[in-house]
Amino acid sequence: MRAVAVKRFGAEPELLQVPTPEPGPGELLVRVAYAALNPVDRQMADGAVDGRAAHEFPLVLGVDFAGRVEAVGTGKNRFRVGDPVFGQAMRPPVGAGTFAEYVAVPQDGPITVVPDGLDMRTAAMLPTAGMTAAQLLAVTALRTGQSLLVIGAAGGVGCCLTQLAAARGVQVVAVVRGDERRLMSGLGADVTVDSTAEDVAGAVRGVRPDGVDAVADLVSDGPGSFTGYAGLVRPGGLAVATRFAAGSVTLEGGAEAVGFRLHASSTLLDALAAAAADGELQTPVDAELPLEKAPEALARSRVEGARGKTVFAL
Ligand SMILES: NC(=O)c1ccc[n+]([C@@H]2O[C@H](COP(=O)([O-])OP(=O)(O)OC[C@H]3O[C@@H](n4cnc5c(N)ncnc54)[C@H](OP(=O)(O)O)[C@@H]3O)[C@@H](O)[C@H]2O)c1
Repeated sequence: MRAVAVKRFGAEPELLQVPTPEPGPGELLVRVAYAALNPVDRQMADGAVDGRAAHEFPLVLGVDFAGRVEAVGTGKNRFRVGDPVFGQAMRPPVGAGTFAEYVAVPQDGPITVVPDGLDMRTAAMLPTAGMTAAQLLAVTALRTGQSLLVIGAAGGVGCCLTQLAAARGVQVVAVVRGDERRLMSGLGADVTVDSTAEDVAGAVRGVRPDGVDAVADLVSDGPGSFTGYAGLVRPGGLAVATRFAAGSVTLEGGAEAVGFRLHASSTLLDALAAAAADGELQTPVDAELPLEKAPEALARSRVEGARGKTVFAL
């Protein structure tokens, strides 16, 4: 089958012919219709799991997918051949990814049926970004009328988080790069700040002089800039980082800092699918490309970032 993979860590991803996987006991084989791009895909290609998790080469990239069940393995299975399904493929060893015509996934993993009213393309863009956004919002425990500062709001997670928070009546201050006011206000942001042209701290203090109730920092990869953003949170508020283990500490200024790690589940996927099917959750499309273009899209994502999601059609 066709798949986009790396032959070693640090190599350029390329379109290859690899053996079609077989579904093991309790697994299903999915014929992939769409697969979506996430930062974790290039992190895997670069060797994020090297020395940390079992992996195999060629290492097929991709975790998010939507498609139809092609076959089911032996044993208990809650799916049937032909079911439209979507989810996250993360079974070990790393390297059996979704940028491929077929993927084998455990039936008890973060996978669920695509409900009526939700198209496959949208479903494929939901898993990693949507589950992360939903769980981040749950971690903040924000209520109506409270405020959330989102750093990196125009990407996959940020677009979902902005909408989920706004739907809860939370005031969202969206920090982006470039003029993305139309995109972000369309998703429910109250204020959009262009970090390349405006002083983020000044803009935040302009709307919340006593500090925001929480910040979701989707950008900082270390304590330097994270501490700066966390300083915009009121005493007792929460600063969450997705890109590094911020620990669980009280910062100078009184905010709590925590590092976030996604715990994926099919229950979470069902909730996101229902919201997307009802039109409450949109997934802005940065680009829709054929699978063959995935290597270029991965390279481009390193320099151009993201506005919503990039999705590959099989
Ligand atoms: N811990 C976990 O379990 C977990 C789960 C999911 C995601 N993550 C991580 O969370 C991060 C965000 O994920 P994602 O899917 O949303 O990534 P994404 O789609 O690539 O979006 C990142 C966004 O951040 C923006 N950005 C970067 N630097 C910025 C700055 N200084 N000011 C404002 N905006 C800035 C980017 O803008 P440009 O386009 O201009 O670069 C882009 O729009 C990734 O690093 C991912 O690996 C962690």
